[in-house]
Amino acid sequence: LSSTEVDLSPIEEGQSVTITWRGKPVFIRRRGAEEIALAEETPLADLPDPQTDEDRVEKPEWLVLVGVCTHLGCVPLGQKTGESRGDYGGWFCPCHGSHYDTSGRIRKGPAPTNLEVPPYVFLTDNSIKIG
Ligand code: FES
Repeated sequence: LSSTEVDLSPIEEGQSVTITWRGKPVFIRRRGAEEIALAEETPLADLPDPQTDEDRVEKPEWLVLVGVCTHLGCVPLGQKTGESRGDYGGWFCPCHGSHYDTSGRIRKGPAPTNLEVPPYVFLTDNSIKIG
């Protein structure tokens, strides 16, 4: 399957789900106001791979990411309740210690680039099609 439809309605604020798209994990997170504010207010000068949060989301509430560390391809932690989300409140790759922020941008560690945003569109207010 080259594209996947996802119903977002069961996902509550502050929750994440992982789906599979083209054999890769895709993280979908419904962000809370605090996470959105952190992502939006971070100065570009603080980012190793500068990209605004606005350029990474269709709607601020929904963050969609390929869940593959851009260093050597491990799956970062932070999807499950209680897992480490790293020093920047997003995801943490335990393989070699990369920290991603609440926009999935690399902040610290060896990963060279931000977590990839897959192509997706909103089909309705509560559903997206990835790919
Ligand atoms: Fe994630 Fe190396 S694979 S830090």
